[in-house]
Amino acid sequence: MSTWIRLFAVATIFIVPLLSWERSAVLAKPTEKTSFGKTPDGQNVDLYTLTNQNGMQVAITNFGGIVVRIQTVDRQGKTDDVVLGYDSLDGYVNDTAYFGAVIGRYGNRIALGKFTLDGARYTLARNNGENSLHGGIKGFNKAVWQAREMAVEDGPSVELTYLSKDGEEGYPGNLSVKVLYTLTDRNELKIDYTATTDKKTVLNLTNHSYFNLNPAGSDVLQHLLMIQADKFTPVDAGLIPTGELRSVAGTPFDFRKPTAIGARIEQEDEQLKLGKGYDHNFVLNRKGKGMELAARVVEPTTGRVLEVLTDEPGVQFYTGNFLDGTVRGKGGKAYGRRSAFCLETQHFPDSPNHPKFPSTELKPGEKYQTTTIYRFGAQ
Ligand code: GLA
Repeated sequence: MSTWIRLFAVATIFIVPLLSWERSAVLAKPTEKTSFGKTPDGQNVDLYTLTNQNGMQVAITNFGGIVVRIQTVDRQGKTDDVVLGYDSLDGYVNDTAYFGAVIGRYGNRIALGKFTLDGARYTLARNNGENSLHGGIKGFNKAVWQAREMAVEDGPSVELTYLSKDGEEGYPGNLSVKVLYTLTDRNELKIDYTATTDKKTVLNLTNHSYFNLNPAGSDVLQHLLMIQADKFTPVDAGLIPTGELRSVAGTPFDFRKPTAIGARIEQEDEQLKLGKGYDHNFVLNRKGKGMELAARVVEPTTGRVLEVLTDEPGVQFYTGNFLDGTVRGKGGKAYGRRSAFCLETQHFPDSPNHPKFPSTELKPGEKYQTTTIYRFGAQ
């Protein structure tokens, strides 16, 4: 045996296991599970704090699959929590803003809460004027999910599962949903959604985190935003897409080059008026079917950067227009209008009533599978 082969054998037998032992030693406590309290109907709820090798932390509760905290560093190395939310479970139980939650069965609106599948007419719970929003009266954001800590290759993870029963909020089919949250060592919060059904249904899962990359500042108007979208879906007065895919060129919806969120938000524009700001679905420019960069946000004061990658066809950009300062969040802080932004990766709102939009139907035997990554950095 040549010396090289011998050396290689020694390396494989001794050094490789040592390296992986060292990795698991560093990751000794990648996931910490603590009690987050009890729901009003007596169910125990936990908080899972994921820590990656860089010390970045994300906390997730199995109540609503909510992302409770995301702690990232700014360009000076100072750590802050960059998402809106509450200090305790109570806040989330009573919340109406969907802070950090998994949204389902259908993210965003379905007009008049009605749609037809194979000739059968379905009527959903209406909870947003005459429309159904974010899954109805009790969406996935208010469900207690089963949770399991996982150690996947990419980093610490927590897997959440939920069975949405046939007829829940008016939707057909027993839908078995899985959401896997992973905090990677690349400082990414990766969200893998999968689902199966036993009857044809529609679904559109997303996460409703509200970000403010400079939490010490008041609003997000100075954040620079880029969205890879040549088109958006204009809405009517009920925020239902009209069906048109409109070019962003020459409108306040053109974020193809980084632009301050507040630069044009008060412009005389019919769509901004209807949304009370930005509350619109952007049609992502896609090259293929895989993961692609959808949006990038830079906060100039802190240097924090958020990149959003997804395999979804759209993203709802929402500027917290309905926050009015009456909600008291973490540390008693009043969350005012535009104190955060959301980038909800998704299929388009009201797709079940727009045959030309990418389909949101799921049939028995098929697997719903979609991934979104929120990647954090500083520059
Ligand atoms: C989405 C909707 C908004 C609003 C928020 C939650 O972003 O498009 O209109 O309902 O959720 O308040």
